Amino acid sequence: MPLVTQESDKKAAAIEALKLVRDGMMLGIGTGSTVKYFIDGLSDLVKAGVRLRAVATSIESETLARNAGIAIENDFSGQLDLDVDGADEIDAEGNLIKGGGGALLREKIVAYNSKTVCIIADSTKFKERGLGEFRVPVEVIPYLKDMTRKQVEKLGGICIFRKNGEFVTDNGNLVMDCDFGIIRNPADLETKIKMIPGVAEVGIFTGLTTLALISGAGVVEVKKFRNPVSP
Ligand code: A5P
Repeated sequence: MPLVTQESDKKAAAIEALKLVRDGMMLGIGTGSTVKYFIDGLSDLVKAGVRLRAVATSIESETLARNAGIAIENDFSGQLDLDVDGADEIDAEGNLIKGGGGALLREKIVAYNSKTVCIIADSTKFKERGLGEFRVPVEVIPYLKDMTRKQVEKLGGICIFRKNGEFVTDNGNLVMDCDFGIIRNPADLETKIKMIPGVAEVGIFTGLTTLALISGAGVVEVKKFRNPVSP
């Protein structure tokens, strides 16, 4: 029997997500180590003749997807058919913390504009007790960044600039990792952080997940949260 590891669980979730992909789809491609397995699988589908176009949520994923033979669009005005992305944490309502890789801004734009948002993750990411063990990434524009940090901290968190302020996103911004403890009301905190001038995006994602494929001990569980948006 093959050894089950966190890595094999990531791969199992990604392989399950490939079953949602149909010929002619316009995809959103997320970022991270779990999504890499999904892109590998897309490469096989393209080789088998499945026609796919996509937008990518990071330069890294764009490069991987192009190498996999997927046509990447830089702009698109319609709704994406399917967004497949990872998460740093997911709770029982499908709320997410994202941005561990720093791609949260593009990831949120893509998720918001997708009919179906499918999250793929190994079971260590599922947090029955609520989000917040993983610090919330917040993308901040560099201008007067410490004023922005102070305003976010007024909401009850402690924020530290990633890599001492040397981590720069694909959008030329900085990322703060913010500890709010266990988050009782993710939607409320998401809105409050997002409203602060200087914040480009917050890595709390609420109300966007259609379904999650969570793999633990080699078994993939499907969790459904909302209906796909109709075309
Ligand atoms: C990228 O910024 C993140 O939102 C990732 O989607 C998230 O960190 C999950 O990444 P892994 O699949 O590598 O755990």
